[in-house]
Amino acid sequence: MSTNTNAKFILIVDDNPTNLSVLSEALRGAGFRFRVAMDGESALTLVERNHPELILLDVEMPGIDGFETCRRLKQNPATKSIPIIFTTALADTESKTKGFTLGAVDYIPKPFEQDEVIARVKVHMQLKHLTEYLEEQVRDRTTALQNAQVQLVQQEKLSSLGEMIAGIGHELNNPINFILNNIEPLQEYITEISEILDLYQQENATPSPKLKNVLKDLDLEFVREDMAKILESFRLGTEMIKNISTSLRTFSRSDSETKSLANLHECLDSTLMILQHRLKSKGERPQIEVLKSYGLLPSVLCYPGQVNQVFMNILANAIDALDEAIVQGKLHARVPKIKITTQITSEERIVIQIADNGIGIPQPIQGRLFEPMFTTKPLGKGTGLGLAIAYQIIVDKHNGTLSINSQVGEGTVFMIEIPVENI
Ligand SMILES: Nc1ncnc2c1ncn2[C@@H]1O[C@H](COP(=O)(O)OP(=O)(O)OP(=O)(O)O)[C@@H](O)[C@H]1O
Ligand SMILES: [Mg+2]
Repeated sequence: MSTNTNAKFILIVDDNPTNLSVLSEALRGAGFRFRVAMDGESALTLVERNHPELILLDVEMPGIDGFETCRRLKQNPATKSIPIIFTTALADTESKTKGFTLGAVDYIPKPFEQDEVIARVKVHMQLKHLTEYLEEQVRDRTTALQNAQVQLVQQEKLSSLGEMIAGIGHELNNPINFILNNIEPLQEYITEISEILDLYQQENATPSPKLKNVLKDLDLEFVREDMAKILESFRLGTEMIKNISTSLRTFSRSDSETKSLANLHECLDSTLMILQHRLKSKGERPQIEVLKSYGLLPSVLCYPGQVNQVFMNILANAIDALDEAIVQGKLHARVPKIKITTQITSEERIVIQIADNGIGIPQPIQGRLFEPMFTTKPLGKGTGLGLAIAYQIIVDKHNGTLSINSQVGEGTVFMIEIPVENI
C-alpha cells in the first residue's frame, strides 16, 4: 500500500478482514494503489482529507452502514463526484436499487470474483477519467468562448463608439474654424468703425436733436466696451469647443493593426473630457473633484484607442462607486474624489493609478472583478464586461498588469502598469 498521501488511490471500506484481504490482493495484483477503512466513520474522515478516485463500499457494517456513508458522501459537494461501487452480499433487488438511487455507479456481489472486481473497477476508472477530461474541455471551451465574446463586444463598442465620436469631432471642426477665423477680422472692423465714430464725434460736435436722442438711448460708450467683451467671450467659447473637438478625436483614435506612440496624459484628459457630464454635481451628489498628479512620462507605444477604453471603463466604475456611496449615505460629508497618479519606474514601466473614495469592494469579490459578466450592478445598468475588457487590453495586448486595492467604505485604487516598450 502506498504511503504517498497525494497519490491517486482507491478506497476499500469493509469491516470484514477476509473481504479486505481478497480485495486488496486483487487491486494490488492489477497495479492499483489503495487504502482501507474498516467502517463508515473512518471512511468519511479519510475521504475528507484525501479524495480517492473510486470507493469500494461495503453495505453492512457496524456503526453507519454503507448506504448512509454513501448518502453523506453524495451530500458533500467536495466528495459527491467520487464514484462509489457497493460490495454486498445482499442480492435482493430492493438493496441493489437503493444503492443506485443513492448515487452508486455499480455493485459487486459477494463472494468476490477477483477478475470481475478488477474489470468493473477498470471500467469505472475509465469513465471517471473520461468525465474529468470532458469537464475540463467544457471549462476550457467556455473560457475561450467568453474571451472571444469579450473581444467581440470590445471591438464592437470601440468601433461604433469610436466612429461616432471621431465623426462628431470631425464635423465640429469646420464650423469652429469658420467662427474662429472670422473673429479676428470682425474685431478689426469694429476697431475701425469705432475710430470712424470717434472722428465723426470730433468733427460734428453739435449733433442734430434726432441723433442726440438716439445716442442717449443707446449709451454708445457702453455698447463699444461691451462689444469688445462679447467678442472676446466668443473667442474663448470657440477655443473651448475646439479643445473638445480635439479631445474627441484624440479619444477615438482609430486603432490600426500596429501600435503607435501616444501621450497617456492626453489620453487621460480626453477621457475625462468625455466623462465631464458625469463628474458634474447631480441630485444629492456634489461635483466630483478630479485630482491629477502627473509625472514626467515618455510617449508610450500602444493601441491608444484601446488604452482610452481602459481609462474610460475604470473611470466610469469610479464614478458609479461614488454615486453609489451617496445613494447608500456612505460618503459621510466627504467630497467625492477621483485621483489620477502617473509615474515611470526605474524598470521603464508606466504606472497609472486611478483612485476613488467611493463604496469600495468587499474582499470576497475582489478576485472575481475581471471575470466576464461579473457585476454587482442592477440588471440593465452593468454588463460586467468593463473590467474584463480592461484586463484583456492591458494584460494580453500590452504585456502589462492590472491590479486593485480596495477597502470597503474607504475607496478603491486601480493600478495599471505597462512597459514603455511593450512590443
Ligand atoms: N471603483 C470601484 N469601486 C467599487 N466597485 C467597483 C469599482 N470598479 C469595479 N467595481 C465592481 O466591479 C464590478 C465589475 O466591474 P465591470 O466594470 O467589469 O462591470 P460593471 O461596471 O458592473 O458593468 P459594465 O460592463 O457596464 O462596466 C462592478 O459591478 C462593481 O461591483
Ligand atoms: Mg464598469
